[in-house]
Amino acid sequence: MDLKQSVIAITGAGQGLGQMMAVTLAQAGAELALIDVNEDGLKQTKSQCQMLSTKALIYIADVTCEKDVEDVFSSVIDDFGQLNGLVNNAGVLRDGLLVKQKEGEISKMSLEQFKTVMDVNVTGTFLCGREAALQMVASESQGAIINISSVSRAGNIGQTNYSASKAAVATMAVCWAKELGRYGIRAAAVAPGIVQTAM
Ligand SMILES: NC(=O)c1ccc[n+]([C@@H]2O[C@H](COP(=O)([O-])OP(=O)(O)OC[C@H]3O[C@@H](n4cnc5c(N)ncnc54)[C@H](O)[C@@H]3O)[C@@H](O)[C@H]2O)c1
Repeated sequence: MDLKQSVIAITGAGQGLGQMMAVTLAQAGAELALIDVNEDGLKQTKSQCQMLSTKALIYIADVTCEKDVEDVFSSVIDDFGQLNGLVNNAGVLRDGLLVKQKEGEISKMSLEQFKTVMDVNVTGTFLCGREAALQMVASESQGAIINISSVSRAGNIGQTNYSASKAAVATMAVCWAKELGRYGIRAAAVAPGIVQTAM
């Protein structure tokens, strides 16, 4: 894979899969816009990419915050002049059973547990996908948007929130592939199995 002349943004690039994908894309010659809430992690990822002699800049942003996301993708165009790809990777888990009865006590998945996962995994993916697409169209950059789904998208015990969110990001990729093809932007989702990371 030769990605020289390509600029790729990765959310959740401060650790785990996002960090590894950044390094792999840097090895292929891509320039990288690294996005996360975790500044220390971003600095580590940036130095690993720079050891491969590629341009890598960091953007500290919460993917659930519309203004943060708008500002980041506008800055990416100012800094690189183009955008050819987005890996929509930032995500969280807040596992729990819908309802659990143990030793006479009944507990339930809280609304906060549900909403936190929806905010980061679904709203964050929507906002980053929208702003990346907007800047790609405006700058006449062609490329791809990849949403990171999960095998859990099919439904998994203890993951009502996470499974629903990962089904949503897979479906959004299909919508975007149908909508954005006319601009030379492809979209797809990848659904990994279990990978050992902090998550
Ligand atoms: N690890 C696995 O087994 C596995 C399997 C399938 C899918 N996935 C998916 O892959 C992606 C990466 O997973 P990981 O295992 O590397 O997780 P991780 O927890 O190691 O890394 C997630 C990164 O996302 C960042 N992040 C979280 N909330 C954010 C926010 N609001 N704004 C910006 N950044 C934010 C975190 O700071 C962190 O750097 C996730 O979407 C996850 O659901 C992981």
